[in-house]
Amino acid sequence: MLGPKAYEPNRDIYSPNRNIAPISSEINESEKLIVGGCQLSELAKTYGTPLYVFDELSLRTACKTYIDSLNKHYPGDSLPLYASKANSSLAICALIASEGFGLDAVSEGELLTALKGGVKGENIVFHGNNKSHDELNFAYKNNVTIVIDNHHDIELLKIIASEKKPAKLMLRFTPGIECHTHEYIRTGHLDSKFGFDPDDVKSVLEELKTYDWAKLTGLHAHIGSQIFEVQPHIDLAGVMADTLKLAKEIGHSIVDLNLGGGLGIKYVQEDNPPSIEEWVEVVSKAVVKACGERNLDLPRLMCEPGRSLVANSGLTIYQIGAKKVVPGIRTYLSVDGGMSDNPRPITYQSLYSACLVDKPLNLNLEKVTIAGKHCESGDVLLKDFYLPSCESGDFLAVFGTGAYNYSMSSNYNRIPRPATVIVGEGCVELTQRRELPEDLLQLDVLPDRFITKN
Ligand code: LLP
Repeated sequence: MLGPKAYEPNRDIYSPNRNIAPISSEINESEKLIVGGCQLSELAKTYGTPLYVFDELSLRTACKTYIDSLNKHYPGDSLPLYASKANSSLAICALIASEGFGLDAVSEGELLTALKGGVKGENIVFHGNNKSHDELNFAYKNNVTIVIDNHHDIELLKIIASEKKPAKLMLRFTPGIECHTHEYIRTGHLDSKFGFDPDDVKSVLEELKTYDWAKLTGLHAHIGSQIFEVQPHIDLAGVMADTLKLAKEIGHSIVDLNLGGGLGIKYVQEDNPPSIEEWVEVVSKAVVKACGERNLDLPRLMCEPGRSLVANSGLTIYQIGAKKVVPGIRTYLSVDGGMSDNPRPITYQSLYSACLVDKPLNLNLEKVTIAGKHCESGDVLLKDFYLPSCESGDFLAVFGTGAYNYSMSSNYNRIPRPATVIVGEGCVELTQRRELPEDLLQLDVLPDRFITKN
């Protein structure tokens, strides 16, 4: 449960991933929750609900802390990349670029958003385990670094790239490192669809050396997401340094070492992830040590945070509607969104924290279950959660929804997607307008012969 503690001033203001609520959250004199200087209930009334709200201060602070920590703890060059799968929008791409971040994209849609948002092609890496010819071509034309994930990528690039303009490549391999996170979001163990098997890496490196259209400049591995341990990344640095040595022996000029993302965040009080600085320090020292032990020059260090940059900058405001009391069992409070705007609880059984935006500190609590409005019994956002007594019409904020919510949203039950606003210093700006039911019909085509004539 989110009690008054979440708003104590001694929260970690440098590492938004260690706080449930955005770092600019405050309770005003009338005991209402404000974020970025804006009262949340006023935002809900103006923009409607559900509403995604982003705190600019949290987002910029997370970016700055990654950059400052890399500068402090890594003696070589570095470039952090925003894993835009966490939340891809023009506004977020523009903001992270202005903070000095590059970006990781996995589709033409994410690439286009990043480029239009002002991220330079040379600061983008393009991932994916099944990239199409058109996607690769688009990335190549825009000078994006392409992460070779498999032989299919190589075959397609043979057609696309030329000796005159070699494709800039990074090689992704599976490092064979286990970490304790949900099995759907683990990628570094050997049974993974991503990247080359470690046993194939040598032959692929040799093969790439024979192509005049290929310029291999980096190595990549990613071990998973929402990770609280740091040991897997220490192990990863060793495995990557071994591969870096091998690639150099084969004659590649590798300059970039990309250790992926994965730093976890605080969704509920029990979560205790490392801070951004702790994570960067561990990763940096591990890379320095692993390269030193193998007599390798320090590469440019890349990492790809997604969740830890955006999750706790965001929250979702819902309005409470129907209430159903199942005597002796459970009280359901239904909200005006659910699994279409936040599919994580139904997909991964993820836990969240929430509070009433106009009664955030009230400790007179009741056990309730917050249900979504979709036609599925499993559409529950928070199960057996404690809230002050509330009624239909009250606004509820669910925290930590800045990552993997909008980007994984759907129109299930033909429910339009919420709007997104960004708040800071008392100002609010719309960054994604609300979908309307009519928008959902835009791609439908009704063949003439299906039209009933009377
Ligand atoms: N780099 C690569 C290659 C990745 O596959 C991912 C996440 C990241 C970076 C960013 O990881 P992060 O820093 O966000 O942990 N939908 C799931 C998360 C899937 C993560 C997929 N890859 C969820 O909602 O928990």
